[in-house]
Amino acid sequence: MIEAKGITKFFSIVNEDRTAAGLTAVLSVSLKIGDGRIVSILGPSGCGKSTFLEILAGLQAPTEGEVYIDGVRVLEPLPSTRREMEDYRRRYQFLSPLANGLFRDRPKHDIAMIFQDYAVFPWMTALQNVTFALKLRGVARAEREERALPFLKAAGLGDSLDKYPSQLSGGMRQRLALARALAVEPKIILMDEPFAAVDTITRERLQDDLLKLWEATGITMVLVTHDTDEAIYLSDEVVIFSPPPGEVRNVFQVESLRPRRRNDPEHLDLKRRIDALFKYDIDHESEYSI
Ligand SMILES: Nc1ncnc2c1ncn2[C@@H]1O[C@H](COP(=O)(O)OP(=O)(O)OP(=O)(O)O)[C@@H](O)[C@H]1O
Ligand SMILES: [Mg+2]
Repeated sequence: MIEAKGITKFFSIVNEDRTAAGLTAVLSVSLKIGDGRIVSILGPSGCGKSTFLEILAGLQAPTEGEVYIDGVRVLEPLPSTRREMEDYRRRYQFLSPLANGLFRDRPKHDIAMIFQDYAVFPWMTALQNVTFALKLRGVARAEREERALPFLKAAGLGDSLDKYPSQLSGGMRQRLALARALAVEPKIILMDEPFAAVDTITRERLQDDLLKLWEATGITMVLVTHDTDEAIYLSDEVVIFSPPPGEVRNVFQVESLRPRRRNDPEHLDLKRRIDALFKYDIDHESEYSI
């Protein structure tokens, strides 16, 4: 169970004229995500979706609020007394508090994250990208390749092991990011617009691949997307963020049974309701900025 309690994120910004300003990216978001569920976060650009996802992964600290995964707090506050510091050192051994918060590809709690820019390393081949993720998780050198290969093959990259990301198509790069995330066998996968940059047919194929993986593993998936159809087709639950600052505006349950049909009338009805919300927000945009 992922539990976000009252998450608010405030960024301080220094303007060009050196005056200080601030921006609330996420406002009081509370959300519970049950094990094995697929949940989409849908909302307009700039409403704090990526920020919220990084907070779930423990890659950014919230200004207010806490995230718990199976009851364990993600990203504890830094120690403020000598005694807390000693406790902290004992628990995390050699890691300094700062380093503990900064390992971008090494979140705790069995989470894997696919970033909006899919963040595969351009200087590593497809195979090296996956074995490197395993190395970060402490898998012994001799086992890495053996563990990486089935995920690369399942992602359709069996013939492209030695290619660099720049030699792969956009869809292949996204599959590589997915293979790398899955190879570490996480319990939770957080995905930031994983299929935004590919054509419709490839996107639909990737969505179905993802559902197959989900059926096989029962992994919990949280997915940020701009695409209402994608959110409804994939998810058990669709969370709509409001225009900035991002608050939870609505939560819709998608009840239709799997395997689903893309043109299910139930989905069309839900899509109409969600699109009407977005249209309402655009029509009333000026009221938000007051
Ligand atoms: N490190 C930062 N410093 C200052 N402002 C930031 C920082 N990161 C994000 N923001 C701001 O916070 C707001 C939310 O950003 P975020 O990337 O979370 O939005 P998003 O919903 O993911 O948008 P998109 O759909 O375009 O990806 C934006 O106004 C952005 O400029
Ligand atoms: Mg984003």
